[in-house]
Order: sequence, then structure tokens, then C-alpha cells
Amino acid sequence: MSILKVTRLGHPVLRQVTKAISVKELKSPAMQKFIDDMIETMKEYDGVGLAADQVFSSKQVAVLEVADNPRYPNKAKVPLTVLVNPKITPLSDEMAEDWEGCLSIPDLRGRVPRYTSIHVHALDRVGKKMDFIAHDFHARVIQHELDHLAGKVYLDRMRDFTTLTFLQEFARYWIGK
Ligand code: NI
Repeated sequence: MSILKVTRLGHPVLRQVTKAISVKELKSPAMQKFIDDMIETMKEYDGVGLAADQVFSSKQVAVLEVADNPRYPNKAKVPLTVLVNPKITPLSDEMAEDWEGCLSIPDLRGRVPRYTSIHVHALDRVGKKMDFIAHDFHARVIQHELDHLAGKVYLDRMRDFTTLTFLQEFARYWIGK
């Protein structure tokens, strides 16, 4: 496995809409290795999720895992999940605001409104259909990653930029707010 370079905001690949992949391509050794590399890269940088376009591949693949994470402490755990060609539907109009950061937008964090409950349809890494409901931070992470796959970043979803903060100032002025 290898740790991949993570794109930063400004690289055009982050603004492209990613393409769905076929089950045949998904099952190829190259794609399976790429997924392993995505997982290793996410863990290396303490991410809770990573989308393929963040590592220069414009394909509909995302990985996520919420474990003991220093960037997001005290969050409910989510097992390691690979989402291929994912689609989401909100279960209601209810939204909540919470802090998000992004490995492609280093050192910043801001409050982003997201649906609190979503229905997720996707394939897993071997092409099996997945269908589940996600709530709260789990739903937030999935919405963040699916935005990447659609060429969007969390800044696009903020209501305004008054909460946009560097991590050092976050720890000093905003924590717990
Ligand atoms: Ni991100």
C-alpha cells in the first residue's frame, strides 16, 4: 500500500464531477489497490473520509471511518466503509450545523449545515449493493464526501464565512461552541 498525495483547493480535479465506475473496473487489481491506498491515506492524515478526486482520480469512490480521531474527538464511531457510485436521499428537511474541515483545505474549519438523516445507496468495494440509513455525524461525513464527488467542497455549503477559522484559533476561541 502507499500513501497518496492529497490535492489542495485550487486543483481543477476537485471541481470536476467524478464518473461512476463499472463493477468490472471496481474488481480490477488496480482499483482494489487504489482503494487500499485511499484507506491508508485517509488514516495517515487523520481524515474521517476521503474522496477519490482528492487523490487525483475523478471516479465515484469514497472511503470513510470514524474511530478515535484527534481531528474529530468525541464523535460516534463509524466502521470503515467504502462507497462506490453512491447516491443519497435526505429522510427529512431537517438540517443541523456543525464544524467541518477537509484534507484538501488544510488548517481551516467552518460550520456547515447538513441533513441530519439520509438514505444511502452505493456499492461496496466488491460491487455488492449497500443500502443504509445514516444519522448526524455519520450522515455529515457522507454528505461531505459526496459533495467532493460532485465537484463541491464544504465552503460551498456554508451559509456565510463568519465561522471560518484556522485550527489554532478554533482551539482558542471556538471549541465547544
Ligand atoms: Ni474534504
